[in-house]
Amino acid sequence: MWGGRFDSGPDALMESINASIEFDKRLYAQDIRGSKAHCEMLVAQKIIEAGDGGLILDGLDRILAEINSGDFGFKSSLEDIHLNIEARLAELIGDAAGRLHTARSRNDQVATDLRLWLRDACDAMDAGLRALQEALIDRADEHAATVMPGFTHLQAAQPVTLGHHLLAYVEMFGRDRGRFADARARMNESPLGVAALAGTSFPVDRHMTASALGFDRPAANSLDAVSDRDFVLEFLAAASIAAMHLSRMGEEIVLWCSAQFAFAALGDGFTTGSSIMPQKRNPDAAELLRGKSGRIIGALTGLMVVMKGLPLAYSKDMQEDKEPVFDAADTLGLCIAAATGMVRDLRFDEARLRQSMEDGFVTATDLADWLVRALNLPFRRAHHVTGELVGKAEARGCDLSELTLAEMQAVEPGIHDEVFTVLGVDNSVASRTSFGGTAPDNVKQAAAAARERFL
Ligand code: ARG
Repeated sequence: MWGGRFDSGPDALMESINASIEFDKRLYAQDIRGSKAHCEMLVAQKIIEAGDGGLILDGLDRILAEINSGDFGFKSSLEDIHLNIEARLAELIGDAAGRLHTARSRNDQVATDLRLWLRDACDAMDAGLRALQEALIDRADEHAATVMPGFTHLQAAQPVTLGHHLLAYVEMFGRDRGRFADARARMNESPLGVAALAGTSFPVDRHMTASALGFDRPAANSLDAVSDRDFVLEFLAAASIAAMHLSRMGEEIVLWCSAQFAFAALGDGFTTGSSIMPQKRNPDAAELLRGKSGRIIGALTGLMVVMKGLPLAYSKDMQEDKEPVFDAADTLGLCIAAATGMVRDLRFDEARLRQSMEDGFVTATDLADWLVRALNLPFRRAHHVTGELVGKAEARGCDLSELTLAEMQAVEPGIHDEVFTVLGVDNSVASRTSFGGTAPDNVKQAAAAARERFL
């Protein structure tokens, strides 16, 4: 492999620690695409002859077909995808194969391949997240007026609508898509043709290869081009935040599907049973939305640690970028798809959602607001009066709306019977019409707006 400088082959342990073919073979299509663009540029710039260029292009097409059909024998003695393909090219076309690596190094080659792969991965994440948003918006429309407790500190706080709750996730996943789009835009520069680290003395046209590969421009600095892995880290950062959002959603599904909450149920398609407890229906997929976020966040942390001590330019440490980023992309893609399936599958128990608010005094804020509006009390005073009324209701074991007018007037004489119009949960949510609020009419409008913004 290394020509004249080496007399004998590597130790078996050297091969084991060094070879990356088992995982970087996933870059074969990108590697061949990059090589074809490089070859065409070498011909156009008269760096190699057109006849050799033609042989190389045909050979690369044959190799692509061999790999696609499973007929390619990957060898770990050939270290990585780049050398495996080059060696096969030499078998197929002979000496001309040796001209392909003119004005190129595996350092710019791998940086190019991985950018091409991650560009597609960004697009795949975007498409998956879009489908998830669509499922959430559909369910939000369906449940625009379904009331449920909204929580702070996991304590029932104020009534909200289920549609509003689901649209909160649409916003999160929208920002996740924005992060992938930003990462994609920044990674879209071509390292190809900077060679090992210093540039090349051959008259390469890096603008030509950049545009052939759909990059916006060639990377400006040769040292940076081969040693930058920000683009992988940014992808992993975007993936980690998206995974964290999915994890929060998974946690809510787990809670909602518990017998204690019983807000919702998943069907047979997204649950498992227990081998010992016949009554069980476990939300494993939702739990795994939580659990799998760990490996994605781990991939980001791991590569940060790999990169943080590396001097310029390329070091072999960087080969450690691939397994975590492939795993993170696979894992996130699967989690997004499973989340989408669960969002469509969830059956919400509307009666239970309503009933769960019965002894939580969730309309206490509505009462305090009414005291401000109708009786012109300062909010702090209204808060205090309401607190006393909650105490009374609690002592009597009834809801705020079940207190008599006389009981209320004993606390605040100005209260009159209009108060009862603000105490129901439907009145409460219907009144929350401020921009971004939970009222059913708002939710209908917000769902329509989200379709415009995201789909
Ligand atoms: N397999 C290597 C990697 O993924 C390719 C680049 C190797 N370059 C080198 N000079 N050894 O990083």
